Amino acid sequence: ETCAQIPARLLAWYDEHARALPWRSAPGEPPADPYRVWLSEIMLQQTTVAAVKPYFDAFTTRWPTVEALAAAPQEDVMAAWAGLGYYSRARNLVKAAGVVAERGGFPDTEEGLRALPGVGAYTAAAIAAIAFGRRAVVVDANVERVVARLFAIDTPLPGARAAIREGADLITPDERSGDFAQAMMDLGSRICTPRAPNCDACPLAGDCAAREHDPERLPVKAAKK
Ligand code: ADE
Repeated sequence: ETCAQIPARLLAWYDEHARALPWRSAPGEPPADPYRVWLSEIMLQQTTVAAVKPYFDAFTTRWPTVEALAAAPQEDVMAAWAGLGYYSRARNLVKAAGVVAERGGFPDTEEGLRALPGVGAYTAAAIAAIAFGRRAVVVDANVERVVARLFAIDTPLPGARAAIREGADLITPDERSGDFAQAMMDLGSRICTPRAPNCDACPLAGDCAAREHDPERLPVKAAKK
């Protein structure tokens, strides 16, 4: 058995179990508004989904478009961001909104997105996949755990990252790339959890190299010095 069936199994699971989140389109539907995808991905850097939701709603109600956000006084945006933390994100948010409004829309490639203030490699890949349907390898901490287990990658982090990326690349489909990325995130946060993963409910249990060998121990953390 090869990796070939993994995307189909994961996407079928996502069709049934996707979390409904305010920045997402429904499974199988066209991508959501790039502004909402970008804003959510910036907010979700270092911050949980539960903490982000009320801020996402407040921001999109007050500034429904990137042009509206670009025109907002910096101090209003800083005040609205208060409580989310990592305030450089809010400063970059206004800068990036200015760039996007000026150029007449979001860049639709990873490389173009990467050039926006506050958008790193992970965020660029996530937006390219989720907002533009581009094939991109999207690896956050949740996905890292899923892939380390799926391929039983037991080299310690951070050394394991190259192999984890290769594994993620191997299973990323050309179609429904955004749904696939978000399905991996949902699997990691709800099923393939750090402690006591629920393998009985996992659509990839039959593909998982760690299933019979204590998945909980993966990924291996570097020894503390
Ligand atoms: N964390 C980062 N991006 C996310 C997304 N699009 N859905 C759920 N969790 C996320």
